[in-house]
Amino acid sequence: MSQSPPDGDWVLLGPAVSVPRNGHASFEAAGRFIAVYDVQGELYAIEDVCTHDGEPLADAPVEPASADDLASGATGPVVICPRHGARFCLKSGAVLCPPAYEPVTCFATRVTAGELWALLSA
Ligand code: FES
Repeated sequence: MSQSPPDGDWVLLGPAVSVPRNGHASFEAAGRFIAVYDVQGELYAIEDVCTHDGEPLADAPVEPASADDLASGATGPVVICPRHGARFCLKSGAVLCPPAYEPVTCFATRVTAGELWALLSA
């Protein structure tokens, strides 16, 4: 068994290779569903639940922030809920357009010895 990173509430998600380059994967850890996206080699992890009506987001499309997204506060790539089209910033979790009005929870990630971890709370 691998060592947990030393500080904070890190949970093991699984092998880092579970998240393909420019792809995504979903995990269940500590009773939460967590979607992880690789965007150009950068990992982003969010709660895998749309804040509008609970749609899973792990299979949702991801795209670069549009001008409207940037004007709404996006600081990174955007995930688009497949059910009603709410847009969320993957970097901050900020909601960028209705029908969602609450942000999604983001988690820091790290890869240690080939294993992917998420920080549930600092
Ligand atoms: S469930 Fe995601 S926008 Fe409605």
